[in-house]
Amino acid sequence: MVDYERAVAKKKKALFKELFQLLPPKPVILEVGIGSFPNALYLGSSDAPPEMDIVGVDPNEFMKQYALENAKKAGILTPERGNSLRLVRGIAERLPVADQSADAVVCTLTLCSVKNPQKALSEIRRALKPRSGKYLFVEHVLSETNPFFATAQRLATPEHVQAADGCHFDRQTLQTIQEAGFAEVKGDYFELDNCGFLNPTVAAVGESQVRCYMNIGEERAQQAADGDAEVLKDLRLYEPNPENVYNAQSASRSQWSFLIDVVKEHVADQEAALKAQEKAQRSSSGSSGSSNSGQMPPVQEPPTPSAGNKASILLLAVVFGIIGLATMFLMRKEKEEQERRKAKKEKKKHH
Ligand SMILES: C[S@@+](CC[C@H](N)C(=O)[O-])C[C@H]1O[C@@H](n2cnc3c(N)ncnc32)[C@H](O)[C@@H]1O
Repeated sequence: MVDYERAVAKKKKALFKELFQLLPPKPVILEVGIGSFPNALYLGSSDAPPEMDIVGVDPNEFMKQYALENAKKAGILTPERGNSLRLVRGIAERLPVADQSADAVVCTLTLCSVKNPQKALSEIRRALKPRSGKYLFVEHVLSETNPFFATAQRLATPEHVQAADGCHFDRQTLQTIQEAGFAEVKGDYFELDNCGFLNPTVAAVGESQVRCYMNIGEERAQQAADGDAEVLKDLRLYEPNPENVYNAQSASRSQWSFLIDVVKEHVADQEAALKAQEKAQRSSSGSSGSSNSGQMPPVQEPPTPSAGNKASILLLAVVFGIIGLATMFLMRKEKEEQERRKAKKEKKKHH
């Protein structure tokens, strides 16, 4: 991980700087999966605000001593800074903190390892202050740009999960975050040098404010419009004016009726959009002279193999053969790299 930390340092520095500018005085910062606390370097920098109340959560008690050492080394616990650090045993899927208590959640290289990323993200949202909370993340993910590499990442994951404490190479974490109900998460997607399968990485500072009608889906939206209290319970809606954010759980009578109205409006909008789309499809298929009613795309008969098709099949077989070889090669290289790192670690230990 030392190599990874070095490669991602510039990016992290910029992200933490961005975060610090958005924080209120005396912020509460929750770090999920704090591990040995490599982020102490950034929270201890001169850009960080004073009087931070830092809460670090991790299931691995063994890491506590390293986290404390790194906090001290980074100067976080220097008395003049007025910071506090609490290290708590716990898991992301059930954060041991009160609702809406954190000004920021920091979570780096951890959603690859948690058992249930969706649950972890819903806990992160619960822990964040609803209007102002910020979520800083850095996570390695499945490649979206290189299908060969992505195949190799998928194939290598089961063994890596066993060897590296549940770490997955094949998660699409940015999508999971974007579907978790945060407002505006424009994650950066980038490659880091010499980081093997811990590539690519996604990172951003997200906002905790929720635009529920983008996330609840058609069926749940309909249930909410029908007044289903269970569905409405954990929704927060916002009007175009960002000052007006309503949390259904603590909504007053008038806010509650506003929530229902907004969801109804959303359902109506979606229905209108769907009708317009169907109409456009019908008129475009009508103008091309097709006898299809516009409901379904035309079905093609499966072609019978000709000489040209046989050549294509042969070509496909060759391509798949090459993909297979490339995948095996990449997996072997990754394994060698892991063994090299392990040997290096062992050597260091003996010294
Ligand atoms: C790869 S380490 C990352 C540590 C640190 N955040 C970093 O950036 O280097 C993954 C961390 O996630 C922790 N972890 C694993 N499962 C977890 C869970 N369900 N909830 C919270 N942390 C978890 C591990 O104990 C470990 O400290």
